[in-house]
Amino acid sequence: MKKSAAAARLEELRMLIAHHDYRYYVLDEPEVPDSEYDRLFRELRDLEGAHPDLVTPDSPTQRVGGAPLAAFHEVEHRVPMLSLDNALTAQAMREFDRRVRERLQREGDVVYAAEPKLDGLAINLRYEHGLLVEAATRGDGRRGENVTQNVRTIGAVPLRLRGGGWPDVLEVRGEIFMPRKGFDELNARQRAAGDKTFANPRNAAAGSLRQLDPTITATRPLAMFSYGVGEIDGGAMGATHSANMALLKGWGLPVSPELQVLEGLDACDAYFDDMGRRRARLAYDIDGVVFKVDALADQQRLGFVARAPRWAIARKFPAQEELTVVEAIEFQVGRTGAVTPVARLHPVFVGGVTVSNATLHNMDEIARKDVRVGDTVFVRRAGDVIPEVVRVLIERRPKATSPVDMPTQCPECGSDIVRPEGEAVARCSGGLFCPAQRKEAIKHFASRRAMDIEGLGDKLVEQLVDLGLVEDPADLFALDVETLSGLERMGEKSAHNLVDALIRSRDTTLPRFLFALGILGIGETIAATVAETCGTLDAVEALRLSNLIEIKPSQAKRLHEILEGHPEQRARMLDLTVVNGAKWFTHAHAAMLAERFERIRDAVAAGPDALANAPDTKIEGVGDVLAEKLVTFFRQPHNRDVIGKLQHAGVRWPAIEVRPDDAVLALSGKTFVLTGTLSQPRDVFKARLLALGAKVAGSVSNKTDFVVAGVEAGSKLDKANALGVPVLDEEQLEALLADAVGQ
Ligand code: IVH
Repeated sequence: MKKSAAAARLEELRMLIAHHDYRYYVLDEPEVPDSEYDRLFRELRDLEGAHPDLVTPDSPTQRVGGAPLAAFHEVEHRVPMLSLDNALTAQAMREFDRRVRERLQREGDVVYAAEPKLDGLAINLRYEHGLLVEAATRGDGRRGENVTQNVRTIGAVPLRLRGGGWPDVLEVRGEIFMPRKGFDELNARQRAAGDKTFANPRNAAAGSLRQLDPTITATRPLAMFSYGVGEIDGGAMGATHSANMALLKGWGLPVSPELQVLEGLDACDAYFDDMGRRRARLAYDIDGVVFKVDALADQQRLGFVARAPRWAIARKFPAQEELTVVEAIEFQVGRTGAVTPVARLHPVFVGGVTVSNATLHNMDEIARKDVRVGDTVFVRRAGDVIPEVVRVLIERRPKATSPVDMPTQCPECGSDIVRPEGEAVARCSGGLFCPAQRKEAIKHFASRRAMDIEGLGDKLVEQLVDLGLVEDPADLFALDVETLSGLERMGEKSAHNLVDALIRSRDTTLPRFLFALGILGIGETIAATVAETCGTLDAVEALRLSNLIEIKPSQAKRLHEILEGHPEQRARMLDLTVVNGAKWFTHAHAAMLAERFERIRDAVAAGPDALANAPDTKIEGVGDVLAEKLVTFFRQPHNRDVIGKLQHAGVRWPAIEVRPDDAVLALSGKTFVLTGTLSQPRDVFKARLLALGAKVAGSVSNKTDFVVAGVEAGSKLDKANALGVPVLDEEQLEALLADAVGQ
């Protein structure tokens, strides 16, 4: 065939195939049988084979291309990818509607767009001049991973938009998921090939999208529905969410056929109930319904709180529950030393999978639910969350059961388990030594802001630990070129470089070293303050709680009265936590007194004056909770051994310059209010803010500079919004702290 004729036929074939893709994926109305489609595809491929110079990047034959990647690149989202607030009950949904109407000052019904909440993973597709140029995962909402090569293999995602009139830059947001049938077939294939099967379609979709080799992704039955837009430039979109979805559909993007525009709350409730009934018959998993205010102008007026829009809500289906029996309760130590009780269950099928372990979260939860070995319990598995024990069926409790005790020693390494007052999580204090924490401890130790060992990345640490070459950070300094160059993906040159970097890193500073030890709650700022206050490592190691924690004479008197009047409290001093009538008396106080009196009886005998304590060391930002963590860490013999080995290996630092008292700190004069649940106790954030000179207040006023809102922030957040006080989420707070530290 002449070249010009070939070019024309190629163009025609691409158009035909794109047309059939559209009929199949978007309209769900295929026009031709598969055999006809395959014939067109083969003709295209053969003709391109004869004229390789006529192959275009948007040709359907080019979906699978490119070599496997070494890693995914990071992509910054131009418009952040938000998450959604949840409504778990009809009441919560009613409140959402009421808030929307109040904010919009709307008397009548609000118009909502409703779509199923798909159980997959969020994607951002970027089209420039109609061509797909980039696809990225949501990541943390600001930065995701570039998965373009993989997304190109998904038939439902057009490589070129249909028709015309699209903006020059059009970012489409949607969910990538795996329909159930495809999931079953994939698992059958995996099983037949002796490969690992996937627990549920969501995991299968995520695992398939995160393949470094796109030829594998191409074999996975992935699908997509669009549910929004990101950056738009050089063109206009509609005035409502539903109009935008219609535009996307016209341009060849799949949109949920279940999308409906509804007027008012009652219609939303009816849609939700209907979807709940039809859920099992859908071709894919959904875990609820997303309701969005349809008018984009209204969405804009409503705005956002923290990371979720005020104009949308995800109403979740009730979680799925089953009954089973607790066969044992064990304790697991996580990467960060958190000790979590886990119930071993008689296997039970719930929420689509067989569950034989369920988290009991922490000791408070066990106590609150009073879960015991032998109990019959309700187990819940909702969506992709970890199965949990909901409650005990007391009627079925066997005779002679006993409550569960928290171990006092780590099951992995034998170090003390500590649980500071006010924290739900108990942790192993053998940070540098504990096998469960080894990898994380060493990664942290090597990281840029700690010992800054160039070339010692996370992967390499894992390899070194897995091969048994490194058990604790001190072992790093014994590595030689010969050992290192024998490792996978490590040449002699990089082995040399790493050994050089290790040697260089030994010259450090005391603040860096203290930070590198990875003591929980001791971040860079606190590490620096501790170093500056104490001057030497010996002084830090010599700290006792009695140097740091105060018991005033009046408090001592009251405490003595209480202890004396309660003969039942005559156990070990350390077992005391909050003492009735002395709420200030925390675990840290008890630990301090336990340094002197093993039993409460001895403390009582010593008299009230002996219980008072005047600390002689004030470390800014180190309250009772951090003090206990600091002192406990250095009390663990294993940790001290590792520190000794590190010094022996040549780790050293120059004498410390003491900070002048009147220094103006980066956050001096700024007032913060913390509210809601953050990833760490508020005290930790408070300490970090204080160390930078900020004030932390308990309530919001017009003197507040920032409100930091965690999960389930309540009235303080509302007040901040009412007063126009800037609200930060935890990530933004971290960014601000990082800036302040850098100043
Ligand atoms: S809208 C600003 N619509 O749910 C609103 N999200 O919890 C952004 N999801 O990350 C999301 N189906 O992955 C929206 N119809 C739908 C959805 C949906 C599933 C996911 C999405 C998002 C998560 C938020």
